[in-house]
Amino acid sequence: MSEKKKICVIHGPNLNLLGSREPVFYGKLSLEQINELIQRKSEQLGLVTQTFQSNLEGEIVSKIQEISEKNFNGLIINPAAYTHTSIAIRDAISGTKIQTIEVHLSNLYQRESFRQKSLIAEVSLGQISGFAHISYLLALEVFALRGK
Ligand code: DQA
Repeated sequence: MSEKKKICVIHGPNLNLLGSREPVFYGKLSLEQINELIQRKSEQLGLVTQTFQSNLEGEIVSKIQEISEKNFNGLIINPAAYTHTSIAIRDAISGTKIQTIEVHLSNLYQRESFRQKSLIAEVSLGQISGFAHISYLLALEVFALRGK
């Protein structure tokens, strides 16, 4: 039997407040509830998935380096506000060459113009935006299907 693919899901700043934070954009589920759905989907798909949240850019960079050193097969990242500003996170993804899918709860292209520029999209396989927590589950499906 082939080894299970290892995936890391990173949630960026302020996503620890999901549930109470602007539910009109980000939905009513808490981060804990979303992580439970991610774990359930991951098991159904035969993936092994770790979740991580940080409000700090450097911690996210270190996590990306760590999972690359540990030979993870993929990264699903919602960089939150860092999407629009972080050259450091972009460089961590391009420098490690970790296969990355960028996800967003809200549809960035229906929002303010500053949210419509992503520094991460260009170093990602693709971007999934606008399906609330389902964006993460779709990204897991992509990793499960890729290479089959
Ligand atoms: C977000 C969109 C970002 O613009 C915002 O800063 C977030 C969440 C999303 O998931 O829709 O914090 O990444």
